[in-house]
Amino acid sequence: MPQVVNKASELLAGLDRGESLPASWYTDPEMTNQEIVKIFRRSWQYVGPTQRLKNIGDFITGYVGGIPVVVVRNDSGLQGFINVCRHRRHEVMKDCGNAKIMQCRYHAWTYDLCGELKAAPRSDREPDFSVADYPLLPIKVETLGPWVFANADQNSKSLDSYFGPLLDIIAESGLDLDSLELWSRDEWDARANWKTMLENYLECYHCPVAHPGFSAAIDVDQDSYKLTPYEWFSSQIGYVRQSALEGSQKVKTYDATGSIKQAQYHLLWPNFTININPGFPNLSVDFWLPNGPNTAKGFSEQYFAPGVDKKWAEELIHFNTQVGLEDDLLTNSVQMGLIGGIPSVGRFLTNSEHLCIHFQKLVVKAMCD
Ligand SMILES: [Fe+2]
Repeated sequence: MPQVVNKASELLAGLDRGESLPASWYTDPEMTNQEIVKIFRRSWQYVGPTQRLKNIGDFITGYVGGIPVVVVRNDSGLQGFINVCRHRRHEVMKDCGNAKIMQCRYHAWTYDLCGELKAAPRSDREPDFSVADYPLLPIKVETLGPWVFANADQNSKSLDSYFGPLLDIIAESGLDLDSLELWSRDEWDARANWKTMLENYLECYHCPVAHPGFSAAIDVDQDSYKLTPYEWFSSQIGYVRQSALEGSQKVKTYDATGSIKQAQYHLLWPNFTININPGFPNLSVDFWLPNGPNTAKGFSEQYFAPGVDKKWAEELIHFNTQVGLEDDLLTNSVQMGLIGGIPSVGRFLTNSEHLCIHFQKLVVKAMCD
């Protein structure tokens, strides 16, 4: 690892020439440990949708670089806490829901919705014990559109300063983020490094080869499918094919007619993706995490505007699932190549895979900071 850090400028120069990061960055457990500290604990991490936090007492839970967090709506708005009891460090809240108090299910230490410890059974017989000394610890929480993020770095810049401009790009698709309703949330596991998976997400060079259904719906030609790197997010914008609207394409795909004409796929540094497909207003998000160097885990949420036809919704979810399965086969196989370690360095096409290059540069800068 220290060796690699010294080579930061060399790696960045290599990336400009299209040379990818060494295979060891995708297979070394120490690299993953460092990523948790230097990337996931210093960036905005997705927790859940604001629509689960409408009423006082509503709460959601998640993890920021492996740290359990809870976000709760109290009298002063949304507040985030490290979701760990000050007593024996059991997680205080589980999943999501509505609560009047936050009570640990291990020894019933009880916190109010502002995180103050209000009761600790038997503590009245302890010398020098004051409940005032043990509030839940705070964590930074902010919202972007309908999503709540948390950041373990108290000095981090605002969420809006990272991703604010993305909201205007999403609006250009015709989608109203405020209208969306959560349809489903599913957890997943995968057999590849989290970066292997996101670098696959960040290019559509493989689409004509590996995604026949997707490529029948979306025009994936290099001249019409646009990839744009911004500082902290990357955007891919494509358009629905006329043949898909007319239902005359050779490969069967979902019905893409509707008010949304664009396909948009965004990665928000480091591990949150937003997908919009042409058709009835729809959006899905994915949250990607390392699970050791060679496997990943995460969850996906599917949203639709109100009044979506159930059969159509299922058709679109099937379409997305099919693309995901095709991608899993690709990234599983890339990971096998990386585990072998030979060749150590790959070669990107700088005009088709520039979002991958941009992403790897952010990884290098974060890891060598
Ligand atoms: Fe793909």
